[in-house]
Amino acid sequence: MSVVDAIRKKRDGGALSAAELRDFVRGVTDGSVPDYQAAALLMAIFIRGLDVDELATLTDAMLHSGEVVDLSALPGIKVDKHSTGGVGDKISLHLAPAVAACGVPVPMISGRGLGHTGGTLDKLESIPGFSVDLGIERFKAVIAECGLALIGQTATLAPADKKLYALRDVTGTVESIPLIAASIMSKKLAEGIDALVLDVKCGAGAFMKTPERARELASTLVAIGRKAGKRVGALITDMSQPLGRWVGNAVEVQEAIEVMSGRGEPDLVELTLALGAEMLQLGGAAKNAAEGRAKIATSLQNGSALARFKQCVELQGGRLPSETRGWFAPGSERVQGPQHGGFVQAINAEAIGLAALKLGAGRVRKEDDIDHGAWVFLRKKVGERVESGEDLAWFSTPRLDRPAEIAADVRDAILRAYTLGAEPPERQPLILAELLFR
Ligand code: URA
Repeated sequence: MSVVDAIRKKRDGGALSAAELRDFVRGVTDGSVPDYQAAALLMAIFIRGLDVDELATLTDAMLHSGEVVDLSALPGIKVDKHSTGGVGDKISLHLAPAVAACGVPVPMISGRGLGHTGGTLDKLESIPGFSVDLGIERFKAVIAECGLALIGQTATLAPADKKLYALRDVTGTVESIPLIAASIMSKKLAEGIDALVLDVKCGAGAFMKTPERARELASTLVAIGRKAGKRVGALITDMSQPLGRWVGNAVEVQEAIEVMSGRGEPDLVELTLALGAEMLQLGGAAKNAAEGRAKIATSLQNGSALARFKQCVELQGGRLPSETRGWFAPGSERVQGPQHGGFVQAINAEAIGLAALKLGAGRVRKEDDIDHGAWVFLRKKVGERVESGEDLAWFSTPRLDRPAEIAADVRDAILRAYTLGAEPPERQPLILAELLFR
């Protein structure tokens, strides 16, 4: 195949053949297709899109560009969850142990935070000693022992995605639904799962800002999964305000432990029950959503999810601090609300994520180091009343040894993220839509 012919064809609105797509992915993986041609084809795809067959072939070629994990020797239907990313989204930390405690194995390969969004791996790495780099054999052994394992992407899984994603990042071709969908699903299908639940985020803190775009991404992801013979479900969920009250890394592990101790914030618990119920149904451990929700709720209340989490942490080399002091930055800066007070109408999740990034909780570039101890605490969430001059939020960071420059900017950014009004806002649902295929 000539890459230039494929570029011309896609540029002019044609459909690429399976051979053209497979040759392209092979050439990207082995380096025989130069970056400038790969970038040109990515831009042509960004502008012209891909039809269903092209998308399925591209995903399959990317998935087979490296190792495909075989989990068939482990008993049970293996179910994972993937979130398209948000602010304060620590759900995986307690959802995976809760689902495992209900008898469904969860092999979870997660990502790192970038920009305003946080990443499960960064949160896990705030636990002293915790390794997200287990290798596939140890990954399987941990799942066999405690029903779950939480690791990072390995170099051998879907290497084509790694190269294509890096190119997309610097060529303005990230925000393409077919390219995002092929990227996510190639990695997820390479994990050896039988079923997958997708949490497609929608709103100010999400990749997809509108329900229409979120629905399009969700149905594209689900279609790829079904074509690959997997059971797939997708929930479209609100990411206009952060999830829970804490944004950071160590603090989010702490908040997830609160959920597993039966004391979670209502939005965290609600999303955990909805996603968990779907995972249990796909995994054959619940007949319907009500039964699934009840089982997950019980695992959060009776300590069985927390016991699985602790076991997993130990098997992956981590030591949970017995007291939280010293684990994350103590003390705090205050963000005082306006004198007129009122009701919180909105909290811009992206702005809060960017404030946390400034404190050191996230990274601007992939290679940046992060401060696991930095955090933002949302004292007030949407719908809550703020008395005159009451604090809206608190924040802290190990970087506050350079206080003046960081604290003033962050305080201002958090204050601007809040919208207050005289009346309580209308209640918005957390779960906007469900697309379920079993
Ligand atoms: N996450 C991914 O894994 N890939 C994308 O393209 C976008 C988000």
